[in-house]
Amino acid sequence: MKKRIYFDNNATTFAIPEVIELMAVTARTLCGNPSSVHSAGQEAKAALEESREKIASLLGAAKSSEIVFTASGTESDNTAIKGAAFANRSRGNHIITTLVEHHAVLNTCEYLSREHGFEITYLPVDTHGLVDPADVEKSLRDTTVMVSVMHANNEIGTIEPVEEIGRLLKNANRRREAASKPRALYHVDAVQSAGKIDINVQKMGVDFLSVSAHKFYGPKGVGCLYASSGADFHPLLHGGHHEGNRRASTENVAGAVAMARALELGVASAAQDGAKILSLRQKLESGILSAISDVRVNGHPSERLAGTLNAAFDYLDGESLVVALDMEGVCVSTGSACASGSTDPSHVITAIGCPPALARGSIRFSLGKFNTEREVDNVLAILPPAVKKLRAISPLYKSK
Ligand SMILES: Cc1ncc(COP(=O)(O)O)c(C=O)c1O
Repeated sequence: MKKRIYFDNNATTFAIPEVIELMAVTARTLCGNPSSVHSAGQEAKAALEESREKIASLLGAAKSSEIVFTASGTESDNTAIKGAAFANRSRGNHIITTLVEHHAVLNTCEYLSREHGFEITYLPVDTHGLVDPADVEKSLRDTTVMVSVMHANNEIGTIEPVEEIGRLLKNANRRREAASKPRALYHVDAVQSAGKIDINVQKMGVDFLSVSAHKFYGPKGVGCLYASSGADFHPLLHGGHHEGNRRASTENVAGAVAMARALELGVASAAQDGAKILSLRQKLESGILSAISDVRVNGHPSERLAGTLNAAFDYLDGESLVVALDMEGVCVSTGSACASGSTDPSHVITAIGCPPALARGSIRFSLGKFNTEREVDNVLAILPPAVKKLRAISPLYKSK
């Protein structure tokens, strides 16, 4: 059987064996409920709090209590945006976000608009997918309660100027508070960047930051939300007094322990892994561009996640290419995993101004720390004939 080549690390990563082992040992040995007063509960609680402290320190948070464990990046995004929107509803109903956010943010904003009367400004991006911080400033209204901008884009890898936006909001908020206007809270979706590029929530000036373990070689089903102690939000789940009344539900202790270790390993090896992944991606990118005609690379040339390569192949359908590559044992995806199955071109590729016909032919290769040069060579051998075959049956290519 052919060995599978997994180039879909932005959809999810394969967990580090050490991390999964740690999760299994924790689940086997720390079986108490962290809310219980007896020793079994308190042992579990100690492990949970140790993980919280580790994550807080790795993200540059001032206090460990600013980390709220959740079940996913989606839950973290929902908690930050809905939670802050509901808590600040009497102060304002305007939210600023971007056209290129993940659906966990976009659909949450859409829900707040549809069901709760919020007004949403969707900021445009340039052809590389970058938001202009000046647009954030121009869009602020007296009623703005939240600004949500992603750190790194899941489809094209572009890294947004989140620190600059944070500085700008800090100054704007100083002026707003002096004029008795509501503070515009700042949320950053760091699901694609955590554990890969440097994050310091205080330097970024964020009130909320979303993280998900399965994107940095941790387990699925666990994430966290950084919520600065000054930022008010309503919980999404109501019930017991878990997580300081901010997220009711018995905590996933083994998942939290595993996430903290995965983040620790990710931060420790980020520079080394990033350099290796970047050289693999560059080899793949230049190999594709030299072997195949009518291809456009989407995303910023330098301000981009090391492993992300979004390539739009003219005269073919991205879904067909994904299937053709899968038959050869290569796993890639068309844009966002959550949007695949839909025939509409991706909202991100559309937002950067890629013409619809070309946008339909875009696929995402996302490389990770377990990929090798040999795999890149194999993909460079498999891809050109696969593209040629699909173009041969494309009426558009024939009439070119
Ligand atoms: C930028 C971004 N935000 C949020 C999410 C959702 O994370 P999760 O899969 O943990 O719910 C993803 C997942 O692809 C993502 O890429």
